Amino acid sequence: MILRQLFDHDTYTYTYLLAAEHGGKAIIIDPVNTHVEMYIELCKQLNLELAYAIDTHTHADHITAIGDLRDATSCVSMVGNESMADCVSSKFSDKDVIEAGNLKLVVLHTPGHTDDSYSFYLEHNGFKAIFTGDTLLIRGSGRTDFQNGNAHEQYDSLFQKILKLPEDTLVYPAHDYKGWTVSTIKEERDWNPRLQIDSVEAYSELMANLKLANPKMMDIAVPANQSCGKID
Ligand SMILES: [Fe+2]
Repeated sequence: MILRQLFDHDTYTYTYLLAAEHGGKAIIIDPVNTHVEMYIELCKQLNLELAYAIDTHTHADHITAIGDLRDATSCVSMVGNESMADCVSSKFSDKDVIEAGNLKLVVLHTPGHTDDSYSFYLEHNGFKAIFTGDTLLIRGSGRTDFQNGNAHEQYDSLFQKILKLPEDTLVYPAHDYKGWTVSTIKEERDWNPRLQIDSVEAYSELMANLKLANPKMMDIAVPANQSCGKID
């Protein structure tokens, strides 16, 4: 199996390129518009045909490359059903399966950071991983104070869906600001400070008191991402 974790230094975003094998079809998760050429070059070098370009949610901090990648490679671009982006090839919803060759990504609706937040679960030859977007970060979780965010929903997404996965499942988030690259469900359950609480009310209170500034690019990124990365 091929799994490449790519990093955007400007926005601390992780992009993932996945495929079952060299010469096969690939899926890219959360691509950033400033790295389109690099993604295409990497696919060429690994002899991969890009089949899908998908976003975990409407990002507020960077502009997506799913539109540019569709234009350049004829791949299918997809976002969640709740997304405002009507320019995509199609949309996914909870329990859908995205298949590229022998690789299967199970789609989990995990709202809370935004209403269109999704995670993708991958099980392949004993390898288990979840790509959590901004729902579950390493030792953190995505803010819930804009873009139809909702701390109650995020609590349910975390505790009723993500943490129910096998504890040795690898956790790959959409961002990291400290240098973490990967975690596991068990590690996060034991050590993530946002998860050391015993009620949805406590979680909501914690999230309501974070006092975070808005992302720098929010006013540009959100409308651009609702247009698949096209800026007017
Ligand atoms: Fe986000």
